[in-house]
Amino acid sequence: MHGEAPVGVVGTGYVGLVSAVCFAHLGHHVVSMDVDAAKIAALREGRAPIYEPGLEKLLEDNAARITFTTSHDDLASCRILFVAVDTPPSPSGDADLTSVRRVVAEIAARGGDRIVVMKSTVPVGTGRSVVADLRAQGAGGVRYVSNPEFLREGAAIQDFLEPDRIVVGAFDEADGEAVADLYRGIDAEVIHTSVPTAEMIKYASNAFLATKISFINEIANVCEQVGADVRVVAEGMGLDHRIGPHFLHAGIGYGGSCFPKDVQALKQLAGNSGYHFQLLNAVIEVNALQKRRVVGKLKQHLRRLRGARIALLGLTFKPNTDDLREAASIVLAARLRDEGAEVRAYDPMIESSEHPLFPGVTICPDAAAALDGADAAVLVTEWSEFGRLDWAAAAATMRRPLLVDGRNFIDPAVARAAGLEYEGIGLGDGLSDLD
Ligand code: UDX
Repeated sequence: MHGEAPVGVVGTGYVGLVSAVCFAHLGHHVVSMDVDAAKIAALREGRAPIYEPGLEKLLEDNAARITFTTSHDDLASCRILFVAVDTPPSPSGDADLTSVRRVVAEIAARGGDRIVVMKSTVPVGTGRSVVADLRAQGAGGVRYVSNPEFLREGAAIQDFLEPDRIVVGAFDEADGEAVADLYRGIDAEVIHTSVPTAEMIKYASNAFLATKISFINEIANVCEQVGADVRVVAEGMGLDHRIGPHFLHAGIGYGGSCFPKDVQALKQLAGNSGYHFQLLNAVIEVNALQKRRVVGKLKQHLRRLRGARIALLGLTFKPNTDDLREAASIVLAARLRDEGAEVRAYDPMIESSEHPLFPGVTICPDAAAALDGADAAVLVTEWSEFGRLDWAAAAATMRRPLLVDGRNFIDPAVARAAGLEYEGIGLGDGLSDLD
């Protein structure tokens, strides 16, 4: 694609950096920009500031086509500029668009004939208001396209290169085509929509997936009452093609940078426009309660948590990422500390012995150290290494060999054979159908 203008990507977080590297992999020249000088310095040396499987390798392979910069001026030659900056929840529950607005203002100030493509998740209506701002700032040549991301952390590169669909929302057909064209070489259906529709597809998709998780978690809770096994229930449901097998793993609830914030933002968005989105209230509440149920399970077995030593296995919101945003572990650790328990934790991605998100928690160098002398272990994140752990050896070092498996990750039969008391999520009377 020699001779084409480079693609600009603002933001080098999980979405921006993966997009930049993947566009380079597709053959485009890319200018990747971030205001964080430390991140850019690391990237110039070939180091990714985040952990994402395969990212550093792809960065290395495509280094010749990517330049990194901290200056908006270096984006001058880019005709298409992706915005992939953070949109964290604000205190009101709405998405905080401060970073997005700052970037758009920088682009507007430089004017010219270019397309701003929004990858960050922004409330429905943002496109229209950004276009109004651009006009007001006299940057009428700067157009707007919405191209939401559907990348899962830990599988982001695969999701970018082999997506289920590509959604392009545009005010002007030609702008939408220009953006869709950047993805040529990728075998996926491209859906061209209006801007508000594209913005809504993103929120509706994430809210639906979160609803699936809260739904199966409630089914799991009922399974515990009636002696059914949620894993088999989910399998039986998932075979119905209208339901599908994905996102039906019961556990301690969803976390991460997207689901909690997007569900909240959609609820808020509906409320702001006068609609009370009842279902989402329940989805959010079920998710919050699900983390607390683990504390209840520990209390049932140990009676008192004061003075008990609890080992948390895994802290990140899911495996294969170093991301702790909205991780269930944060609430769980805080609750356990409030109950007077001693908390020792291990996560393969966290090296320091203390972490500001886990005050009063000792972070151990390995699982064995966290489990040593523990009254119970809670498996919080299903890191594959926990599947390979010598559970019999671990059980022998615990003061009480109790495992609460928050992800239904360890086979109950294996755990029991290793001498552990085992408690999963929604496994009925414990006599699992799968044993
Ligand atoms: C998600 C969306 O999948 C992605 O399309 C979007 O763009 C960003 O948000 P991600 O946050 O990386 O991606 O995580 P995902 O793999 O979707 O998992 C989210 C959370 O749900 C995790 O905490 C996970 O443990 C939990 N989960 C997922 C369940 O509890 N049960 C399931 O069946 C699936």
